[in-house]
Amino acid sequence: MAGFDGTTERELTRAAEIIRSGGLVAFPTETVYGLAADAGNPLAVARIFEAKGRPSFDPLIVHIARHEQLFDLTDAADERLALLAERFWPGPLTLVVPKRPTVPNLVTADLPTVGVRMPAHPLALELIRRSGVPLAAPSANRFGRVSPTRAEHVRRELPAVDCVLDGGPASFGIESTVIALDDDGFVLLRPGAVTREEIERLVPASPRAAAPGGAASPGLLASHYSPATPLFLAGDAPADLDPRRCGYLAFGDPPDAPYLEVAFLSRTRDPREAAANLFDRLHAFEPLGLAAVVADPVPETGLGVAIMDRLRKAAHRHRRA
Ligand code: TXA
Ligand code: MG
Repeated sequence: MAGFDGTTERELTRAAEIIRSGGLVAFPTETVYGLAADAGNPLAVARIFEAKGRPSFDPLIVHIARHEQLFDLTDAADERLALLAERFWPGPLTLVVPKRPTVPNLVTADLPTVGVRMPAHPLALELIRRSGVPLAAPSANRFGRVSPTRAEHVRRELPAVDCVLDGGPASFGIESTVIALDDDGFVLLRPGAVTREEIERLVPASPRAAAPGGAASPGLLASHYSPATPLFLAGDAPADLDPRRCGYLAFGDPPDAPYLEVAFLSRTRDPREAAANLFDRLHAFEPLGLAAVVADPVPETGLGVAIMDRLRKAAHRHRRA
């Protein structure tokens, strides 16, 4: 077991008590911060929706700390599940599996399936262990807003949540990849921190593609990650935008125009670094009162698929036409 300092020890004990008594705890994972409740307690889970202002059609991921806990949540005896869990857990892959009747319908938004993952952050694992129950947890932001990658983002977004475990900046900074299995292979429901190619080394991709924005994964709603400052992808920005009042999110070289604020996804065009920086940079622009932020697109291979997915969603509301 990881050694924690005295403060962390006390906070973990308190956090686990809050979970067991039906309360909410914000906690770090390697992807983004989550807002957790006891997955077996529908009243506690309802508090999550309330705190986030999240429509109840959006299903929550259930977080576990031991591989065997998967089979408390599903009866599926698919050897591909064991293979994927063995390779990717703890880590940022969410497996959508048929749910057991004991999983509350509120957790899964009435779907017959449940999304399950084992996070890799030591504080997350320890919180799940000490709570003694799987934790239902969405990202700890208000509905439709940018996901939090630091404890301070959570405190700002959800000031009513009184227990926020601080585990430092999230190392991936982008949410888990969500997949389901059919007879032919896996179906990508949400691109994320594990790439399609990494999964394909174990299980083939099914020819059946998930319907974009379909109910199969509400996280694929076209506009889902809305920063307060309008965001445009370079190339889509209005021609009359004044760079001296705008921010620029660069991938590689800085822009030629005199932007007021320039931040980098990655100076070296490293997709891993860009994923880790993405939400953090968007959060950092927000208090600056910029007229808009213009972002470089990134090549859509590997992790770039998930990054562009989030950038397009963040830009959606402000797209012209
Ligand atoms: O990295 C992550 O996945 C973070 C951390 C906290 O674990 N969690 C996260 O949760 O991003 P959330 O609620 O913001 O996104 C969960 C995604 C949603 O797009 C949801 O639609 C999908 O997972 N999902 C969950 N259960 C599902 C199910 N049964 N069927 C299809 N999609 C599901
Ligand atoms: Mg989310």
